[in-house]
Amino acid sequence: MSIDMNSTNDIIGREDIDDFEAILSVVGTEDADGRHAVHSVYDTIFTWDYEKGTRPKLEKLYEKAKKAQWNGQTDLPWDTDVDQEKLIVENAVATGGFTAGIDLTGTPAEKWSEKEWIQFGVESQNWTLSQFLHGEQGALVCTAKIVESVPWIDAKYYAATQVMDEARHVEVFAKYLDDKCSGHYPINAHLRMLLDDIIADSRWDMTYLGMQIMVEGLALAAFGFMAQMTQDPLLKQLLRYVMADEARHVAFGVLSLQEYYQGLNAAELRERQEFAFEAAVRMRDRFLQQEVWDRMGIDPKAIVPLIQQAPERAQFQALLFSKIVPNCRKLGLLDAADGWLRTKFTELGVIEFESWEDTGEEYDSFAAVPSKDQVAS
Ligand SMILES: [Fe+2]
Ligand SMILES: [Fe+2]
Repeated sequence: MSIDMNSTNDIIGREDIDDFEAILSVVGTEDADGRHAVHSVYDTIFTWDYEKGTRPKLEKLYEKAKKAQWNGQTDLPWDTDVDQEKLIVENAVATGGFTAGIDLTGTPAEKWSEKEWIQFGVESQNWTLSQFLHGEQGALVCTAKIVESVPWIDAKYYAATQVMDEARHVEVFAKYLDDKCSGHYPINAHLRMLLDDIIADSRWDMTYLGMQIMVEGLALAAFGFMAQMTQDPLLKQLLRYVMADEARHVAFGVLSLQEYYQGLNAAELRERQEFAFEAAVRMRDRFLQQEVWDRMGIDPKAIVPLIQQAPERAQFQALLFSKIVPNCRKLGLLDAADGWLRTKFTELGVIEFESWEDTGEEYDSFAAVPSKDQVAS
């Protein structure tokens, strides 16, 4: 069987993954009516096999999820005072200054005073949390779709708990942004392209691959960074609660796809590899924060390429893939079809993480969600 192979250009719309001119030319727009419709045609599957526990690992996850539910309204210390600017300054002190050692000589930000840098920090946080919020809504709708489309009862049960988890995540990020931050951003164009592709695909496993493995794998790493960095006890706790849920969600993806991919042929696996690569590039592109530079009055094309050259930046971005790569390996995606995805992840500079722990079992170590009584004491 010959494998129908797409070029990098076919998959991501450009030949060079680091073509900043092309990346930054993709600019988001706000939807005038406050809505965005994505058309999707897929089969909703009824199963008449109600035997619970046919897939014991999924059943275990489902039982765990039922006990790990929390209430975003009452379990978090919402009365905490949050001074965004003060937190930005404290954070800059802790991390070695606003530019984190990156030389901005010759760029429009060269002459920025502390005032502009604080403003940038505030905008950057508003932007980051806004993208988390939009991503959470993506997870909400994707997982609702999985409830319908996945053929196994244990997976339908588990996915139903995830739908509730994601509703709670949307709720708490929206509340934090509204009550504690100073502004919102619309969805980043690269993130939107990715979510649209995931939702529009008719194959149930692609929803899992795009959302549970790629988007949530990256979210788990990104939330972990922010939870570690922030000095705000409310945000720290919010993120820890969310991460405990996300670790289960990624495990749900790994455990479900592991079984399904064993039955796929090389051509079918190659399609999954291409989808994983596309998702990786879209998420990498979204981290350029182009809308923040725009709002600060600086053309992103005049500064982003320089920032991307900084080794610290490359290292941070690579670490965001530290959950994704081992999970792709566990699914057999790295080495299927002559190792195509291994080559692509090598080009992206993230292959070094392949031997890190995968998230198929790791979720127990995240399950640090204290009970309501423990939080109160
Ligand atoms: Fe979530
Ligand atoms: Fe999730």
